[in-house]
Amino acid sequence: MLVQGQHYRTIWVNKNDPKCIQIIDQRALPHQFIIEDIRSVQEMATAIQAMHLRGAGLIGAAAGFGMYLAVLESIQYSNFQEKLLASANQLLATRPTAVNLAQAVTQQLELLKNTVSADQAIQDSFLLAQSIADTDAQNCYKIGQFGLDILVQLAAKKAGETLHILTHCNAGWLAFVDYGSATAPIYAAHAAGIPLHVWVDETRPRNQGARLTAWELEQHGIPYTVIADNTGGHLMQQGLVDILLTGTDRTTYKGDVCNKIGTYLKALAAFDNAIPFYVALPSTTFDWQTAHAADIPIEQRAADEVKYIQGLGPNGLQKVLLTPSKAKAVNYAFDVTPARLITGLITERGVCAANQEAIAQLFPDQLNHPTIKA
Ligand code: MRU
Repeated sequence: MLVQGQHYRTIWVNKNDPKCIQIIDQRALPHQFIIEDIRSVQEMATAIQAMHLRGAGLIGAAAGFGMYLAVLESIQYSNFQEKLLASANQLLATRPTAVNLAQAVTQQLELLKNTVSADQAIQDSFLLAQSIADTDAQNCYKIGQFGLDILVQLAAKKAGETLHILTHCNAGWLAFVDYGSATAPIYAAHAAGIPLHVWVDETRPRNQGARLTAWELEQHGIPYTVIADNTGGHLMQQGLVDILLTGTDRTTYKGDVCNKIGTYLKALAAFDNAIPFYVALPSTTFDWQTAHAADIPIEQRAADEVKYIQGLGPNGLQKVLLTPSKAKAVNYAFDVTPARLITGLITERGVCAANQEAIAQLFPDQLNHPTIKA
């Protein structure tokens, strides 16, 4: 997508040095645009865990490139497979909830398990990492087209009045490789000339909405308003929200949606006010092995992310303490919205209801697996 008129993806290979992966360091946004070089598995693991990059699709692409870096490191050793597995486990331990990470690592391990030569391993893992990233971008583009149909229908009911979309967290291009999931239909609708406006939940504690979604929308000239996380229910009661549209970090094959903490409360408010709630996701975010939402690992992050807040001060970026210094804080990063509260899922193959039968119709190749029980 565009940053000051120039096209960027969120992750790419340095064109002058194929051993260097480059990312946008999202910790500094929206105030500074910093590109970070990543040259080792350790650096990639840190970038994922400390959220220099984040978002399910991007975490998956980063893990794919992380495994390519793991190959570059491991081929120096006679116990190549052992070293590779250790790096895979290091990447897997970074963030537990977004399923894209495990999928990318597993795909790389599967590809590399019968490697015969170092050159082949390097080439194969490089191509697979590129393909994971390219597929993510293509899927998000298609999500945009299917989601556009929904926004066109809603806009038709408004007879030329502005369509109001509420979103939570950042399911934009910064959370993927390009386009985003929840934002892709918004970009497509904006390009199609539909008048729209986005309510952006600030998304405490890391403020992905206030910092990242707001910045993205601004770069694209899309009207938006940042709101405190507690505001959405009131706006819905006032008739100021036409659709709730979010992404997801892991969705069970029965349609329960795990997403950024706070999504569940917005879903309840939308349900109570008969406002449609659509969740946009590439199929890499389905968990084809998990039926029960209770089995999804919910990441807990450092309490300091709740106690401190970062912003731009007179001397640049700074962190300030919000709470009493000895306050106890807890930081659950995700919650689960039950399928019954969701109007539909927007995927790269089309839109379906959030239930196993409907998901199976779009993805028979995944859901006809014998291990999957109704
Ligand atoms: O903790 P993050 O920023 O990696 O959270 C993930 C997300 O980007 C959101 O939950 C988003 O809505 C899901 S779409 C990738």
